[in-house]
Parts: sequence; structure tokens; C-alpha cells
Amino acid sequence: MASSFYITTPIYYVNARPHLGHAYTTIVADVVCRFNTMRKADTFFLTGTDEHGDKIVRSAKAENLSPKAYVDMISGQFKDLWPELNINYSRFIRTTDPEHVAVVELILQKIFDSGDIYFSEYEGLYCLGCERFYTERELVDGKCPDHETKPERIKESNYFFKMSRYQDWLIDHIKQHPDFIRPERYKNEVLAFLREPLEDLCISRPKKRLKWGITLPFDPEYVTYVWFDALINYISALGYPHGELFHKFWPSVQHIVAKDILKPHGIYWPIMLKAAGIPIYQHLNVHGYWNVDQSKMSKSLGNVVEPLQLKEIYGLDAFRFFLMRDMVFGLDSNFNETVLVERINSDLANDFGNLFSRILAMAHKYFKGRVPQVDPDIEKELQLGLASDAILAVTGFTEAMIAFEFHKALLSVWEFVSRMNKYVDVMAPWELAKKKTSRKQLEAVIYNLLEGLRIISGLIYPFMPDTAKNMQKRLGLDPDAEFYALDRLTSWNIIQPGSQLLKSVSLFPRIDPKKLDPVTTKKKAGLEPEKFIFKPEVTLDMLNRIDLRVARVIQAEKVPRAKKLLKLTVDLGEKRTIIAGIAERYAPEELVGKQIIVVANLKPVKLMGILSNGMVLAADDDQLALATLDKPITPGTPLR
Ligand code: MSP
Repeated sequence: MASSFYITTPIYYVNARPHLGHAYTTIVADVVCRFNTMRKADTFFLTGTDEHGDKIVRSAKAENLSPKAYVDMISGQFKDLWPELNINYSRFIRTTDPEHVAVVELILQKIFDSGDIYFSEYEGLYCLGCERFYTERELVDGKCPDHETKPERIKESNYFFKMSRYQDWLIDHIKQHPDFIRPERYKNEVLAFLREPLEDLCISRPKKRLKWGITLPFDPEYVTYVWFDALINYISALGYPHGELFHKFWPSVQHIVAKDILKPHGIYWPIMLKAAGIPIYQHLNVHGYWNVDQSKMSKSLGNVVEPLQLKEIYGLDAFRFFLMRDMVFGLDSNFNETVLVERINSDLANDFGNLFSRILAMAHKYFKGRVPQVDPDIEKELQLGLASDAILAVTGFTEAMIAFEFHKALLSVWEFVSRMNKYVDVMAPWELAKKKTSRKQLEAVIYNLLEGLRIISGLIYPFMPDTAKNMQKRLGLDPDAEFYALDRLTSWNIIQPGSQLLKSVSLFPRIDPKKLDPVTTKKKAGLEPEKFIFKPEVTLDMLNRIDLRVARVIQAEKVPRAKKLLKLTVDLGEKRTIIAGIAERYAPEELVGKQIIVVANLKPVKLMGILSNGMVLAADDDQLALATLDKPITPGTPLR
């Protein structure tokens, strides 16, 4: 019987449009799911949207919509995006689905009945604007960082979940199951957190403050805390408690999240499961963050990367490949389009695409597009270990995929690609083709190369499903006949001699960055043009609209709670405050007195509650350097 495999993504908040970060997690889940179909597992892949809570109500208000109308709209954007990225989910859950609400009520009642939920008074600092409590540490100069107002001290009665009771149990569970939370750094982070006494979790919000939530089944005056509601989606989607899907898939569940939500998944969720008498999940797989040009992606910085734009410009498979190849699962990564183009040109166009088109072209030239008949003895003799190298590649790939080390899995495939390229060079089929006497050798060499391509097509399937199918079609294989199955990838002599090959194509044409016209492509896709690295030409008139000025730094200090930001007071003929993302490369004291260049007429933005009025120019290729002038110049002098 086929084994079962259940994979989940976080359910995304519907207070923002889907971006590169959401796309990465969801593509990882798709890749892992497809890999499990290669192992012939019966798979279930869950994603969806998290639709209750303060944040959502505030976003709906900002759009002048009712919460329901608002969540329907944004949830739809997520749901529609995933098929565009070839993400083949089994179910899309919404926390406003009535079946989900019923399961949340059931679990709350169950935990309440078993005595793990109690009612108590809570006193804390509450920001009316944010509709939430703050700890002293989170405040800046005693004020809410977003609203710059002093929070009120509020006393409120609420329901609490006795997490503390399960602290020792959880520590033991993590220690006894070393890869329960992986990679290891995140397991260590959770264990470090658990060294301090665990506080009980406040799991309710009074309805007088928040109505948009699931009512507690044991107190109609309260709704449940959004995390308590959200985490339960992983079981409600399977029809817990009696659903067939739940029995079939829950025992094999693996979650994927980024490091931002490690605590709810690594601590609250296993304890909730334990308290409700439900078996604990198998693995929590935690990845790092995609930053853009070294900064966190955020609306206010205007650097949010939209997955569809990248698909339109670079092609879906190249985009999926890049994300999986460039991020080491678990670590942060910097998204950069120049690197993306280099990766496409070297790995996909040169090494891989060329290999494929060359071999197919030779098969057409020498054998009229038919797979040659081979003499088994000669074929073996001329293999030079190609078949055993293919098996090594499949083994390396499989081990890495199981361990969520996707970049290593792809490295293993690309080692084989390079092995194939060498085989072509060493065997030089064009030389064999010159002599009638080496016809049999030529047949064997081309046959071996076609077999190698077949195996590569299977190995890239989880990452680049369209390309895999295209390759298989061209190799004369039925693209729907599961040629990606691992047991076929470890066998040789699968391609049938005599079968017809299709014409050669360029799978990944080289991208010339100079010719790239992202603006036109984006216009076609109905998207805005401004956020691209390959920028369109500007006229002198357009350039003159930017007011560049010489400035002198008068004062510099760190911005509390923002690792990367410095607050600069500069003289540019007048005094200005500018927030600059340079704190990781410059200490405040080395900046004072420095002559820098500033965009003086950039629209002011609020960053961490501080109004930033201008932008500092710097070059950033991992070695951030501020732009400056080679002679002292009066502050405020314009640059031309
Ligand atoms: N609704 C909660 C999750 C509840 S799950 C029971 C939530 N939603 S979220 O919309 O904020 O999504 C967070 C997740 O989005 C991250 O854990 C990660 O999967 C993905 N990412 C968001 N930004 C990201 C990056 N910049 N980089 C990588 N992934 C990121 O938290």
C-alpha cells in the first residue's frame, strides 16, 4: 500500500497581497509534495488563509469594506495565485469556513472540560490604535511604536490556557525526537526559550473589543485568540475528529513555516495537540527570510516583490528553480534580480538547456529523430560509469530532499548534468559520426545520453514540473506516465529503441540583461513598472526632477528595535532627519561629520514611528559603501 504524506503551509493573513515570501513557502510545499509522489506516496497538501483578528478588521476598515467582503477579496487573490505558480494544493482552507469554526469550538470545549483553560484577570499596557497589549520592552520611549501614543494600563478578565503544565513534557518530546523541529538551529531556539518558565497563554478577547473571531463555546462574551483559531486549521482541514482524511494523513503530517512563527508552531501547537489528546505532528520545517537588497520586504520600504511579475519576465520554472537553488533552507537569503539572471544563464541556459538541445539535435542528425538500437555489450563498454553516476545523483538527490536540503538536491542533479556534458566532450559523437565503422559506438553513446536526459527530467520534476514534462514529451515519453517515479530513475534502459523523438528546443534561452524589457512585459501583465532592477531609460528632464544634494551628518544614532536602521540628523542647507538602512555596516560615531549625498525631494515616509525626510545614497554589493565627494563642499549644494 502506498504510504501517506501530509504537508502544510502557514495559512496567510489576508491583510496583505501575496508576495515573494508567501510564494517561497508555498512553492517549497509543492516541491516536497511532488517529491513524495515520486516516491509513490499518497499525498495531501494544505494551504489557505487566516481571516480573523484585529489586524484583519483594521485592514478592512482601511479599505472601507466589511471584514467579510474584505477577507473574501484577499483570500481569493491567494487562491488564484497558487495555480499560476503551478502549485498543486489539495485543499485551500479559510478560517471563516463553517467546518473549521466547528472544529475550533470542539477543541476549545475539549480543553476547557479537561481543566486546562481557566478564567483570570489580566493587567497590561494596551494600545487603543493597535487594539493589543504591549510589553514594556516593545515600547519606544514608553510609547506605541506605530501610533506614538502612550498605551493605557488596562485590567481585563480573560481565559488562559495552562501551557506551563506541559513545559517539561515538551522539552522531553523535543529531546527524544531530534528532528522534530528542523533545521537544528530552530530546535535550539525553542529549547532556549523553554529554559525560562512558560507563561500561560491568553486565548480570549472580550467581544466589546473584538467581534471578528470565533465565539468561545463556553462564554458568549468572548472570541478566541487568533492563533488558537489558526493552528487548528491543520486538523480541521482533514475533517477532525472522524474524517477519513484525518485518519489517513494526520500521522504523516509535516509543517512548513518561516522563522517568524516558530514560537506558535514550536510551542503553542504541540501543547494544544497534547492537551486535546491528539498525536503530535512529525516535523516542523523552518526556513529563513527572503530579504530584498538586504532589507526586510515591506510596503513602507516599497520593495515588496510580486511573484507574478517574476513569472512574467523570467518564466515560471526558472523562477521556481532560482528560489529553491538560492536559499539554503533555514537561513535568510537576499533576493536580487542580477543574481537571478546569472543563475538562469549559467545553470539553466548554459549547462542544462544546451545539453538537452545538443543531444536531441544529434539524435535527429544521426538517427532521423529515432532512438537508436543498441548493442548491449557496446553500450556497457562505452558507458564509462554514466549509469552508476546517475544512480549516485538520484541517491544524493533523495537524501537531500528528505532532509529539506533543496539546494543540495539540485547540486546533486547539476553534478550529473556536468558529468553528462563531460561525457559528450569525451565521446565526441561528431567524430564517431565521421566513420562508418564506429556506427555502433555512436548508437550507444547517443542512447546513453538520452537515458541520462530521461533521468534528469525526472529529478527536476518537483522543481520545474513544466520543463520536466516538456523534456519527456520530446524524449518520446508520455508526460503523464509518471516517468519521474524514483524506481524508474534508478533503472537504466527505459527509453525504447526505435521510438520517435520530437524536435530539439531551447528550454531556457539566455537572458541578455541589456535587452530585458521588464516594463513592457509588466505592462502586458497589467502590473506596475517601478520596482525593477533593470530600469527603463529616463530623459534628462526626468532625471532633473530628482533633487540630489550634498549633506553633512550632524548626529547619528541607532533606531531602537531595528537592527538595520540608523537615525541621521543631516545639514543640507536645512536640518533634516533621515532613516538609513546602514546600521549593520556603519557605527553611528563614524558617520558624524561625514559628507554624504542625499535625495532631498523623496516623499517622506514613517519608519519605526520616525518620519524620514530624504534618502542617503549608497552602493550595495554586500560591502555597503556610502556615496560621498572627493572635496569638501558646502552642505545643500545640488549635484548635477
Ligand atoms: N496567519 C499566520 C500564520 C498562521 S499558521 C497557523 C501568519 N501569516 S503571514 O501572512 O504573516 O505569513 C507568515 C508566513 O509567510 C511566514 O511564516 C512565511 O511562510 C511566509 N513569509 C512571509 N514573509 C516572508 C519572507 N520575507 N521570506 C520568507 N517567507 C516569508 O503568520
